[in-house]
Parts: sequence; C-alpha cells; structure tokens
Amino acid sequence: MASRQMHLGVFVLGTGNHIAGWRYPGAADSFQDLGVIQQIARTAERGRFDLIFLGDGLSAGPDDHPSFTARFEPITMLAALAATTTHIGLGATASTTYGEPFSVARAFASLDHLSSGRAAWNAVTSSNGRAGANFGRAHPPHAERYAVAEEFVDVVRGLWDCWEDGAILADRTTGRYIDAGKVHKLRHKGRYFEVEGPLNIGRCPQGQPVVLQAGASAPGQALAARTADVVFAVVQDLEEARASYAGFKALLPRYGRAAEDVAILPGVMPVLGATQEEALQKLAVLQSFVDESNALSMLSGRLGTDMSAYPLDGPVPDLPLPDSSHGFARTMLAKARRDGMKLRDLYNLTAAARGHWVLCGTPETVADTLEEWFATGAADGFNILPPYFPGGFDDFVDQVVPLLQARGLFRHDYAGRTLRQHLGLARPACRPPVLAD
Ligand SMILES: Cc1cc2nc3c(=O)[nH]c(=O)nc-3n(C[C@H](O)[C@H](O)[C@H](O)COP(=O)(O)O)c2cc1C
Repeated sequence: MASRQMHLGVFVLGTGNHIAGWRYPGAADSFQDLGVIQQIARTAERGRFDLIFLGDGLSAGPDDHPSFTARFEPITMLAALAATTTHIGLGATASTTYGEPFSVARAFASLDHLSSGRAAWNAVTSSNGRAGANFGRAHPPHAERYAVAEEFVDVVRGLWDCWEDGAILADRTTGRYIDAGKVHKLRHKGRYFEVEGPLNIGRCPQGQPVVLQAGASAPGQALAARTADVVFAVVQDLEEARASYAGFKALLPRYGRAAEDVAILPGVMPVLGATQEEALQKLAVLQSFVDESNALSMLSGRLGTDMSAYPLDGPVPDLPLPDSSHGFARTMLAKARRDGMKLRDLYNLTAAARGHWVLCGTPETVADTLEEWFATGAADGFNILPPYFPGGFDDFVDQVVPLLQARGLFRHDYAGRTLRQHLGLARPACRPPVLAD
C-alpha cells in the first residue's frame, strides 16, 4: 500500500498573505491582475499542489488587508484560471448567509465542467457583519448563520444530484436530447429556502464539487463533519492542533463518515531563509512595513472587538468569544495567554498572517516541522499562506516541496486530473432526491 501523503493548498491573496507583503521588494502589489494570479496558479501546478484557494468577503474598507480591499469575484477569477491550467484544484469561497443555493450550486457546477473536475466550494457563513449593509439586511447572529448554512449546503448538494450521469442523450437519430427519467426535481421546502429544481446544468465531472469548510466553533465543526471534504484549520501550537485534529476526526462517525473522508489542512505562513537568522530577518523586514491602522482593523475583526480602545503595550484583555469567528479568536487568545503576550505582540502576529501560524526557518527545518505535524496527528497536509507573491511562494515550491518529495511525503506528479483524485476521494454516487408525493 502506498504510504500516506500530504495534501497541499495555497491560500491566494494577490498582495500576499502578510498584510504588508506587497511592500516586499519584487512582490506583486495587486489582487486585480490576471497575470499575477495566473503565475501563482502555474507555480502551484509546478509544485504539484492539490489546490489553490481563494477566500472572499462581501464588503471593503480602507483599513482592510489590501487584498480584501480590491479583488476579483472568486468564481469569475477561477473560470479564467480554468482555461490556463490543467491539474490544479480551484477552490473559491461563497457565502451561505448572503447567497442563494441555486446560484451557488449552478456556479460551482459550471466551474467543475469548465475545469474538467477541479472545482471546490468553500462554504462560509460570512463572519464580517459589514456585509449586511451591502445586501439591505441585518447580519444574522452566529447561531442563525450556521442554521441557515446547514440547510443551504443540503440544498446545494441536492441540486447537484438532480441530474444523473447519462441524462443528456443528444441522440440525433431519435431526436431525444434528455432522458427525462434521469433528471429530477428537488422540491425543497425548508425553514429558510424553497427550491424546486432541477439545476440547469448536467451532472458534474466530479459527481459533486469538493466542499471546503473552515469554521471552528461547535456548529462550524458539526457542519464540517457532516458535509465537508477538506477542513482548513487555524493553529498556533502543535499540542493544540493535535487535540483539535483528534476532536474533529472523532466527530465523523456520528455522521457515518471515516477519518480519511475529510482532510484537515492547518494554515501556515512559511518564511524561509538560508539560515534561521535570515528567515527571522525577512519576517522583521515584513513586519517593519506594517501600517498601524490596517493591523488594528485586522486584529479587531479577528477578535470581534474594537481594539483601538486598549493600550498596545498593555496586557491582552480577557474577551468573550465574538459573534464573528470563534476559530480565530479562540486560537489567538490561547496563544496570547500561553506566551504571556502584550497586545502589541498579538497585533504583530495578526498583521503577519491574520491569526495563522508563522513558521520561520530554513527549507530543512520547515520540512522537518511540517513532517512532524503530519506524522504525529496534527494535520493531513497544509494550507500554505505565502507572505508575498511570487517570491514567497516560489521559495516554498522550489526549496521545501522537493524535500517533502524526497522524504516520500508528497507526490512527485499528479496521478489523476480531478481534485477528488488528488485528494484520494471517490466520485460520489448520485443520490437523486426522493420526492414525497
Ligand atoms: C483558512 C480560513 C479561510 C477562511 N476564509 C474565509 C473567507 O474567505 N470568507 C469568510 O467569510 N470567512 C472565511 N473564513 C471564516 C470561516 O469560514 C468561518 O465562517 C468563521 O471562522 C466563523 O466560523 P466559526 O465561528 O465556526 O469559526 C475562513 C477561515 C479560515 C480558517
């Protein structure tokens, strides 16, 4: 039997994942530039990554991360990438709070066809309350957002199963275009949605696009355990990551699923140097570019509290879990307590990787650490957050990936063409909706 191998995704933000990555010499400075994104996608394929991943939000403010301020709509962007790539999985975020299941199911089914089976949907509940103002409604509370999300994901999956394989006959002789017996209505009438179906696009190459999830609250984990194929985790510490990995995998049997049905990919920002000192120096240069208002806005967003009222050189205050995102706040506050951080330290950490883990080192020490996490029950792979593009990503692909490959921890080449194949997931059987009448 082949030994277990890592899965790697890259979190794409055109201006870099570091809040000031765009200021690094030679770094790209736009998230509205097709050339930049195409280069990232080519690099990801060169590195044999499983997928590229685009986050998304539905509002913009001048103090946001630069890539959140001005960016393409993700499905549109991935449709463009589908045409210039051949293997890389294409993951985009779409909100269950501000979208419609029919539109989301249709968009991702289209992307799956356009890319010959490489689409993935990151189902998010939209933690940023400012989005409400752009949709003419109040931002629902956390619990309601997840209640909606549970139904939303079921409707999307139900729509994807309205078409069986082989439903499109296009038989010139008989004149029959569709085998009507293989196209089904959904007739969903739920608490939040009423959707008749069927979807107006045939069954996807992957059967169903891959579903990604990144919620870390109890309802977020329950949704992921029931419906996700890949989970993005926010981590800062190996012990904590092992505990949350084990806790999540233990949820799966409740939903009739096995540990290997869902890959857990913690986020990590690798900062590489020829020596440890050089890597730390690179991070120091990046940190020296940080603009105070961006960093405060990011920290306030992550903690769900306006942090400008607290002195930066004071202690990190005890804050309740916010209504926005439990995952980031819980991980960051635990890290602050463990390390006895001042608020300024937490602010610097958030500026660096938006609350994700920053790993500085040589290619060897970074590969050693990733191997340790992978081999000791903390990860099935990683969501790589390069601090800046293209150099920060090139460094990882050219210097760390070959080490992982040489150790048998990562593929040398793609064995399949679809994202499900990269992830080792079977193409799901079609389960057409069972209608009551
Ligand atoms: C790696 C990662 C990426 C995420 N990307 C997005 C995103 O693009 N848009 C978004 O609204 N939320 C995003 N989130 C937030 C979560 O999906 C989730 O909605 C949020 O954390 C609230 O859920 P929780 O309270 O269960 O943690 C992301 C979270 C993580 C860990």
